[in-house]
Amino acid sequence: MNFNAGETIINDTYAEINLKTLGKNFEIIKKISNKDPDNSVKICAIVKADAYGHGMNEIGKYLADQGTEYLGTADYSESIQLSDYLKKFAKKKVPVLCLGLLTEEKFLGEVISRNIEVSIADIKNTVNLNNFAKANNKKINVHLQIDSGINRTGFKLKDANEAVNKLKQLSNLNMKGIYSHFATSEIDKDSYALKQIEDFKSLIRELESNSMKFSLKHMSNTGGILNYYNSFFNMVRPGISLYGYYPDRQQLVKEIGIKPIMTLRSKVKFVKSLERGQSISYGRNYFTKTKTRIASLPLGYGDGYSRLLTNKAKVYIKGKHYPVVGTVCMDWLMVNIGNNSKIKVNDDVEIFGTNYPADNLSEILKTIPYEITCNISKRVKRIYTEK
Ligand SMILES: Cc1ncc(COP(=O)(O)O)c(C=O)c1O
Repeated sequence: MNFNAGETIINDTYAEINLKTLGKNFEIIKKISNKDPDNSVKICAIVKADAYGHGMNEIGKYLADQGTEYLGTADYSESIQLSDYLKKFAKKKVPVLCLGLLTEEKFLGEVISRNIEVSIADIKNTVNLNNFAKANNKKINVHLQIDSGINRTGFKLKDANEAVNKLKQLSNLNMKGIYSHFATSEIDKDSYALKQIEDFKSLIRELESNSMKFSLKHMSNTGGILNYYNSFFNMVRPGISLYGYYPDRQQLVKEIGIKPIMTLRSKVKFVKSLERGQSISYGRNYFTKTKTRIASLPLGYGDGYSRLLTNKAKVYIKGKHYPVVGTVCMDWLMVNIGNNSKIKVNDDVEIFGTNYPADNLSEILKTIPYEITCNISKRVKRIYTEK
């Protein structure tokens, strides 16, 4: 038998990713984005940060086969990896749009030889890119990144016209797209978001009246798609909704039928009975209130399950939720399964997923579901199903 612990052994803790559900989420987002029959809107599916922890290559390939027109990555290492993977496996040729910035010449050769489109956000690096492309006899598709208010990266609105006039001369770049990004799209009817849309629109009008044409204009992430129908332009960039979550449940309560595609699964590895008044785990910050049984599960913060969930989260076993008790360890967490449950060693446990969505954990941690799935560590194998 070929024994390769990394490849062939599936630990009791693993993340099951349901590609069929991903396909359904994708269809829902595509339908919402194309609800105006007179405006055909393309999808740039965001698969950065290893597809928010779901596995960039597998998710990217699946979405390419489902018909996404673009895939969006965060940096050039991801872009190169994804582009090479798609070349081998995806049925359709889908370009990768890198949302990150290229500021070092040493990577330019790798980028321009692949199906990668480049975000540009300043003159100096854009000129460098053009010179490099010229020396290599290549034409590169670029997207002008406009900072309409997030104040992160991109050309400032007031500088964009002048910048574009300079960039127009760069003959080895094709100004394929122009895009911007919201600061507050998860809030409905937010005046700041509305101003960003208006400012971005008026900039596009100004640039287009100045003989500049962009075949792709895009702004909306999931929040924009759900709250700001007037910000679709002709492409949208959904991320979190494809993975089955809303950006922030405190702010955005709409229901569109998307479902989590990741289920973090584990197994009961050990069960013991304890009398009342016994402490559990490091630091002794939980004591049994009655005689009870405690199940130990083989996962912890080493798998990306935050230690801050100690005594706060629940898990789902055989149709019921049970509380996590005692400090979450690096490799173990303990659950109070009560005296009367029939739970035994090797029973399946859902740590989060359809029956206990990751929003429950993000709410406890005062964060957003993005962080929960992104944090699931490399040790946790991703298993893909199409059930
Ligand atoms: C530039 C850009 N576009 C789109 C997205 C996707 O956003 P969401 O996951 O909220 O749909 C992100 C994610 O952070 C982003 O940074």
